[in-house]
Amino acid sequence: MTDEQLLRLANEVRERAYAPYSGFKVGAALLCADGTVFTGVNIESATFTPSVCAERTAFFKAISEGYKDFVKIAVTCDKPYCSPCGVCRQVMSEHAPDLEILMGNPQGTFKRTSIRELLPASFSLRDDAE
Ligand code: THU
Repeated sequence: MTDEQLLRLANEVRERAYAPYSGFKVGAALLCADGTVFTGVNIESATFTPSVCAERTAFFKAISEGYKDFVKIAVTCDKPYCSPCGVCRQVMSEHAPDLEILMGNPQGTFKRTSIRELLPASFSLRDDAE
């Protein structure tokens, strides 16, 4: 699975985002170590608080299906790029401390980063916590 293919999956699933309140649709495609990909979209609520981001939708789908090893996530939106929110960073850091992150858009350009770069010195109960 190339970076471009993963970004394309994120762009495709983005169409299914449920974002009538913000109007901001986000798509995510999470690559597991065995090559399986789980996609996700943001899903909003009229009461706002229960809304979930595309990244966490993808993670929670994967984790609930028994997947534990994650390599890379592509996140796309209709801006040059979309940087994962703090809540999603905490979830990524817990479940995928070595995660690569591709932040892209429908035009196909993207920025590459990692969860270590976006959330250094994160809170953790792991033995190797800093
Ligand atoms: N959102 C995501 O799905 N991922 C991000 O990385 C940032 C924001 C969603 C949450 C909300 O539904 C909408 O985008 C506007 O904040």
